[in-house]
Amino acid sequence: MDVKRIPAKKGDYNLQNYEEMCETFSWDDMKRNFTWNETGKVNMAHEAIDRHAQDPNKKNQTALIYSAPNREEKLTFGQLSEQSNKFANVLKKYDVTKGDRVFLFMPRSPEFYVAFFGILKTGAIAGPLFEAFMEQAVRDRLQDSEAKILITTPELLERVPQEDLPALEKIILVGESDAGSARYINYHSEMQTASANFAIEWVDLEDGMLLHYTSGSTGKPKGVYHVHNAMIQHYATGEWVLDLKEDDVYWCTADPGWVTGTSYGIFAPWLHGNTNVVRGGRFSPEDWYGTLDTHNVTVWYTAPTALRMLVSAGEAVVNKFDLSSLRHIMSVGEPLNPEVVTWGLKAFDLRIHDTWWMTETGAQLIVNLPSEEIRPGSMGKPIPGIKATIVDNEGNEIPPNQMGNLAIKEGWPAMMRAVWNNPSKYESYFVNGWYVSGDSAYKDEDGYFWFQGRLDDVINTAGERVGPFEVESKLLEHAAVAEAGVIGKPHPERGEIIKAFITLNDGYEKSDELLEDIRQFVKTGLSAHAAPREMEVRDSIPKTRSGKIMRRLLKSWELGLPTGDTSTLEE
Ligand code: PRX
Repeated sequence: MDVKRIPAKKGDYNLQNYEEMCETFSWDDMKRNFTWNETGKVNMAHEAIDRHAQDPNKKNQTALIYSAPNREEKLTFGQLSEQSNKFANVLKKYDVTKGDRVFLFMPRSPEFYVAFFGILKTGAIAGPLFEAFMEQAVRDRLQDSEAKILITTPELLERVPQEDLPALEKIILVGESDAGSARYINYHSEMQTASANFAIEWVDLEDGMLLHYTSGSTGKPKGVYHVHNAMIQHYATGEWVLDLKEDDVYWCTADPGWVTGTSYGIFAPWLHGNTNVVRGGRFSPEDWYGTLDTHNVTVWYTAPTALRMLVSAGEAVVNKFDLSSLRHIMSVGEPLNPEVVTWGLKAFDLRIHDTWWMTETGAQLIVNLPSEEIRPGSMGKPIPGIKATIVDNEGNEIPPNQMGNLAIKEGWPAMMRAVWNNPSKYESYFVNGWYVSGDSAYKDEDGYFWFQGRLDDVINTAGERVGPFEVESKLLEHAAVAEAGVIGKPHPERGEIIKAFITLNDGYEKSDELLEDIRQFVKTGLSAHAAPREMEVRDSIPKTRSGKIMRRLLKSWELGLPTGDTSTLEE
């Protein structure tokens, strides 16, 4: 096969000797960067914020540049430390203690980051929810986690089904509201009177820090549980992959409701004491290039769908901006097309470095490093300390250039430690000592990994992971829908879009209005990104004899592919 290769530019990268590091590096080496290595006392909030606030040279450095169409604000490490202390005191006042789940359901804002670190300072587990979630999505997550406190805005409050959440004791509202209930607490008035001193809760490395809900092909979303120990890998990849240096201005475009927005939108840059840009509001090419330009961003972590949209916006737009400060670009979340990498060379005079990892893995595992050759279309090679391979169904390694299941030797620092309330689901990820990802891929002779697709029915639309079961369940709640099967359909810009096949109940006639009504029902009930962009009414939905929807078959039909084994198909 003819593979294009883009050599590394000469540069002063943090990780130069990749091959040698793969031989010699052990995770214990990385622990020496942390003071807890001597004390055993740890808290991510201390390492990411307070440590810098206590350093006279860093205290007044800008930690957060928040920029949105209607609001611009900066916080120094000192301010972020003090305000999160205050918020920790507010939580303590309402009896939050170590191990409690405290959830955030709000748009990106300075208050989000203050509250997030306040939660960690109490030793509680933070659960960030994507702001676009609608009632069902919010209910599933808050019920399963038995969240004790929720921080949200008055605007989002109506999507919180309070009557279904007996464990939820208080709701902290960020913003003016005249809504009255014994459950409500006002963020701003509490913060005004809270003390700025807080005795941080020192925890163990293996104590809980974060719950990120994510989707599989069956069942409700699962709470992926991460512990403070993950910081070792966030720090390491911040150094090697993000290549962060003291003066870098860093921007990660992901929302903290998704794992990229916490691991790399919060932890990695602040563990390194960098100035971190957070952009609120919606995507637009002008806005994003403008953010890079205005804040002189040097290191940028983004996603293929956004990059593809920038490509379609054309050269005239990019040429309006001065992007000369930019020195390093990375991408994550979906396959990065070689054409986009080629475009990046032209538009930015920079390589775009693809990185691969998952909610469950907590941090980057397979990456393109700034000092290594890039083969466009490949996710790159495992970072030092990580053993990756391709396995068959029994968990046996298979030779180069053969497709199989991408697997990682278990036990890396940022690996999830549990699936909340679901030990059997957690166990099911591990076969023969390997964490089995469910991504199909192959490895070439030189150790580069090439992503091929998902082995299950999980959909990846614009980089967002959607479980078909959740969408099908929501569709079935609509009075007109009798049966539903949902698939991801390839799409040039968004990677995949959601397509739903439905059958109608007696008394309903297919019409454009009805289909639009059903679509809106999912959009307003679950979330916009989970609403089917295409719908097809059928006479029946293919099922196995045991009643399982055969999504594979729907997909083959949709794509005009061979249907494979249909022996389990119901009559
Ligand atoms: O299928 C892979 C895809 O995204 C999945 C993980 O999604 P999520 O848990 O939401 O985390 C996304 C960001 C960490 C993977 O199983 N994926 C992630 N990165 C890549 C990718 N697919 C292709 N190339 C990538 N670089």
